[in-house]
Order: sequence, then structure tokens, then C-alpha cells
Amino acid sequence: MLETIKQTSDYLKSKIGEIPNTAIILGTGLGELVHEIDDKKEISYTEIPNFPVSTVEGHSGKLIIGTLGGKKVLAMQGRFHYYEGYDMKQVTFPIRVFQALGIEYLFVSNAAGGMNPSFDIGDIMLIEDHINMFPEHPLHGKNFNELGTRFPDMSEAYDKNLRLKAMEIAREKNIKLQHGVYVGVQGPTFETPAEYNFFRVIGGDAVGMSTVPEVIVANHAKMKVLAFSIITDLGVIGKIVEVSHEDVQEAAKIAQPKMAEIMRTIIQRI
Ligand code: HPA
Repeated sequence: MLETIKQTSDYLKSKIGEIPNTAIILGTGLGELVHEIDDKKEISYTEIPNFPVSTVEGHSGKLIIGTLGGKKVLAMQGRFHYYEGYDMKQVTFPIRVFQALGIEYLFVSNAAGGMNPSFDIGDIMLIEDHINMFPEHPLHGKNFNELGTRFPDMSEAYDKNLRLKAMEIAREKNIKLQHGVYVGVQGPTFETPAEYNFFRVIGGDAVGMSTVPEVIVANHAKMKVLAFSIITDLGVIGKIVEVSHEDVQEAAKIAQPKMAEIMRTIIQRI
């Protein structure tokens, strides 16, 4: 595993030049943030040694290097979902490569169903914490001390200073920002009403099929994480309607300029 990570990070080092300190993972329907990245260089996942290839619609699968908010960033357009059939080591492999590159900050976005009754479709939720409901843990198995400790602390999985900055920026720019707990599930089914209710009862505000594995590995790697969910549908009893992947993509598209604005500004300021 260490050798595989090194091979990939060496390849990227040879392509990227100066290594940024920030990486961004763009979720479903949120890929348009890449249009705001200047002086872009794109590397398709198919060209990167050992990188899995993304298959889901709405994820084109490339790494983008460029500047956002005047700072150099590395962005993943398309991520690897557990429901696609990858194992957790594959899902989180890019995070290990970021770690090997020396990335300090990880910004993550996703589309999620909102269970908090005060949420509306199109809201942005700042993730304060998560509940891991995936059936497999990304750190299962042998621990490599070079990568992190056996029993990582998760008391502040989403960096508090970054969260405070995000809230400050949202206030300044008059962007409505919700906050709450993200429940990570394997999918690929959306939830039944009883499941949405269950996730609400156990303390969740939004539910989605990603983010938690990457954030766990980023914490193992001691990166500072900031993550946002775009609320694309509601899992609120009485408001639940049929939902499709297309609906999720549409709703995410509408909210993404606001999320991009927060991300760009925070990157400028760190
Ligand atoms: N559930 C799970 N994943 C999702 C949802 C949802 O309601 N919306 C977008 N991704």
C-alpha cells in the first residue's frame, strides 16, 4: 500500500510542479466550481497510476490543478463511491495520495437529503460532525504508523477554526448557511421514510452516500477538514417525495455558486 501511494504521488509531483496545500473534492452536481479555477491543468483519472476510475453519471473523473481565490489548489472532479463497488481503500486512496503530497487542508462537498425540518432544498449545510453508517471502515486492517495512529481521535473531525471562518464568510456575504450532522450511508438506494426518520432520531440533519470515508482518512492523516452538504431533497416526514439522481443534480447546481463563493473566500484567507 505504501509503495502504491508513493508511485502515484511521485507521478503527480512530476506533473504538478509546486504542490498546493489545499485539495477539494467536488460532489454530485458540484463540478462547476472548476470553471472558477484559473490556469487549469487537468489530469484524467485514467492517466493517474493506481487511481480507480469513476463510473457514476455526473462525475467526469479528473484531477484539476490551478488557482482559486489566488491560491494554488488541487481539485477532484468526481469521487469514488462505495456503492460503485470500490472497497474503502480505493474510495479513500486519493486522500492517501494527498497526504503523501503534503496537502494540509481538505475541502469536501456533497449532495445530501435533509432530515432537519428547518432545511429547504437548495440550502447549504456546514457539516459539524458525522455519523458513520457505512458497513466497512476505511481504517480496517493493518495500521501503517507512517500514515497515522491506530486509534485516531475524531473529537473535531471537521476543523473548528475553518467552520468559524466559513460561518463568518457566509454572514458577510449574506449566504444562508445551515449547520448540522451528516450521516454517511452506503446507498445506492435513497432512504425509505422510516430510514430518514431513524437517521433524524439518532442525531442526523442530512444523509448522503459519501464524505465520511474520506474525512476519516483525512483525520487519520491529520489534515484539517471543511465540508459542505447541498440539501437536494428532503427526508422530513410529511415532505418526502419521490427523488431521482437527476433531481439531486439539478438542485445541487442551483446552490453551487453560493458554496463556491464560500470556498473561494475561505481559501483566499487561509
Ligand atoms: N439520501 C442519500 N443520499 C443522498 C440523498 C438522500 O436523500 N440526496 C442526495 N444524496
